[in-house]
Amino acid sequence: MPWNSRHCAKLLVTAGILSVVLGFALSKPLSAQTHENAERSGVEKVSALADPAIEKRVEALLKQMTLEEKVGQLAQYSSGAPTGPSTGNPDYPNMISRGDVGSLFNLDSARAANQYQHLAVEKSRLHIPLLFGLDVIHGFRTTFPVPLALASTWDPFIVEQYARIAAQESSAAGVRWVFSPMVDIARDPRWGRIVEGAGEDPYLGSVMARAYVRGYQGKKLSDKESVAACVKHFVGYGAVEGGRDYNTAEISEHTLREIYLPPFRAAIREGSVSLMSSFNTLNGLPATANPFTLTQILRKEWGFRGLTVSDWTSVGELVPHGIARDKAVAAQKAINAGVDMDMISDSYHENLAELVKHGKVSQARLDEAVRDVLRVKFALGLFEDPFTDESREIQGALPTERVEAARFAAERSFVLLKNSAAGGRPILPLTGESGRIALIGPMGDNAQNMLGPWAGHGRAEDAVTLRAALEKRAGAGKVRYAKGGELQTASDADIQTAVETAQQADVVLLALGEEAAEQSGEAASRAHLDLPGRQEELLEKVTATGKPVVLLLFSGRPLPLPWAFEHVPAIVAAWFPGIQAGPALVRVLFGDVPPSGKLVVSWPRTMGQIPVYYNALNTGRPADGYDLTHPPRNSLEKYVSRYIDEQNTPLFPFGFGLTYSSVEYSQTEVDSAKLSAAALNANLGRDASGGTTQATASATVKNAGNRAVDEVVQLYIRLIGTSMEEPVRKLVGFKRIALAPGESRRVSFPLGADALSLWDIQNNLRVEPSHVQIWISPDSSRGLPAELEIIE
Ligand code: NOJ
Repeated sequence: MPWNSRHCAKLLVTAGILSVVLGFALSKPLSAQTHENAERSGVEKVSALADPAIEKRVEALLKQMTLEEKVGQLAQYSSGAPTGPSTGNPDYPNMISRGDVGSLFNLDSARAANQYQHLAVEKSRLHIPLLFGLDVIHGFRTTFPVPLALASTWDPFIVEQYARIAAQESSAAGVRWVFSPMVDIARDPRWGRIVEGAGEDPYLGSVMARAYVRGYQGKKLSDKESVAACVKHFVGYGAVEGGRDYNTAEISEHTLREIYLPPFRAAIREGSVSLMSSFNTLNGLPATANPFTLTQILRKEWGFRGLTVSDWTSVGELVPHGIARDKAVAAQKAINAGVDMDMISDSYHENLAELVKHGKVSQARLDEAVRDVLRVKFALGLFEDPFTDESREIQGALPTERVEAARFAAERSFVLLKNSAAGGRPILPLTGESGRIALIGPMGDNAQNMLGPWAGHGRAEDAVTLRAALEKRAGAGKVRYAKGGELQTASDADIQTAVETAQQADVVLLALGEEAAEQSGEAASRAHLDLPGRQEELLEKVTATGKPVVLLLFSGRPLPLPWAFEHVPAIVAAWFPGIQAGPALVRVLFGDVPPSGKLVVSWPRTMGQIPVYYNALNTGRPADGYDLTHPPRNSLEKYVSRYIDEQNTPLFPFGFGLTYSSVEYSQTEVDSAKLSAAALNANLGRDASGGTTQATASATVKNAGNRAVDEVVQLYIRLIGTSMEEPVRKLVGFKRIALAPGESRRVSFPLGADALSLWDIQNNLRVEPSHVQIWISPDSSRGLPAELEIIE
């Protein structure tokens, strides 16, 4: 795209400024920070891969390599617990000694890594070090909340801090490459992997993507504690049809650019040195063989110089996809499309040398792929120091500051969905007078499940359960616990005991949810988003006791639970909170810290609404203003875009989350009535440096209650009159602010070219003359807009 190349040079100059600002911000305590409007597209960072000294070394090495040694750099294998369909266990020691392996992953210790590394650097002819990878998704050993929960904090500083800790722990185990962040936009909670991303919004997804990359890669990639990020899965994996894992996706180029690509672009601008291709077919062509996305967009438009790796056997899977008759054709298609490294499938290892000899893959393309691998290895400093000091691995308990960081993150990730009055006041927060507490449910004392799916080397013994934390806080004598059965099974007696326990209490905490590893994450798509086992029955029977019930829902996705949302007075989405689940929950339940998470995915009322997301197009027959709570009664009510048996809106919109106080927003105001499209277009790509602020939107946000709050103030716009249809709202900024009881704050957001741009009818990013509506609001559904015009 012309925009990208035009602005590249300018952006490189401003790169250093941002890292200085962020370095300063991180040295402040997290709680003291408020977060300025994160930019739509970000400032291009000077890539760790743009070093001429490294280029020289890459070229010198490349010259010495045989065809087989080049192919060897492009082969990756899993050694250790497999994270996909197992493919046997080749003879790694010999393969490595011959130079047939470029990367290994899934190893479990620095010791194992060092052993293999000795073979690579001492036995192989050119002594090229191996690159060790791992799926570090929300923690190596210190397990933080799952990514969907981390995003629900709306706090990139928390994410960056998580990623820094994960980098320190991973690198101590010899892992210098993490397969994260997962930035797939997901609008379908049936898809188990919605838990691994930042939800449904490209702007928030981009802010989070950048934070992960900053944390993983640190200030310098060659630092021993930095790890290479791998942004994944490129692209469209979050849009798999029916939410079924590995399924097909159809996404127009416009929607790809507007919705699905921005977080990848953001991660790469932030300097991510690698990227993983996805399993899914995209618009008829598997993403792992897709030159439009992997070469045209990634390399040509974005100028990416990093390493692209396939997903697990996704090169070999081109055969079942039906676009390759055998693995040789699969290898040819994948590498020619732009995949540098073959994860697991052996397609490159077995075929690439022949393909090059027969001219099916050019020498130039092979060399490019090898350069991409070597560049990352040099940038990580692996040639200087390929080994890991084994004493760096954590022995014994986790360091306190890491545990506290995990708790801090969890506290801010919970979303209070409902908090009705019981006995004259809302049930939450609990107080010293709340009386006897019954903790009920299979999640109440379940350390393993607190970790969530993809928990890396996280250990159940590090996790503090709700029961343990509650007994500590309230005193063991005040808490009665009844498990009420397992997650997937329960006996009548289990349920009966739970009901009796509830009857003897003054307040009930009901800890229910889906099984972390089995029902959430990869290969865990669900067609029934209900509570597994007999948990719904347990919930209904316990609620029927008439005691005030707080439902704590542990899940990797929103669960539409109609009965619960109608009958249970208080509900918290707790996600999978990580090792500090119990202490974090207790602090929020007792009001030591206010609930402050907000939804990053719309919460459906029912399965039939899926996909339901806030940044939808309006249609020609919008149903706004119609009462959709009953079937249509006349032709006006009938011929609109609606269901005859359900409302259109989700139960809780994107951005929603309650707190213990009430927060009021004034009318949004904007300080300009007219902006010039030409002036804005001249400044596209510069919002991040503050260079293009043309207007400022403001509103007064007031804490009208008597408890402190941490409010996520959100900025949305709608563009009307554009060449392509724009969503009814789209997020273009947010800030998390702390407000004392009674305190008011004027919150302002700059509105610049990036925020006001769209992918136009020619698929160019630009600002068009249009009418702009602007909301500063507590979620994606409320408030009245301010207006401005963008003229020629
Ligand atoms: C398959 C998953 O899709 C991907 O996210 C992961 O990084 C690889 N397996 C490696 O475990």
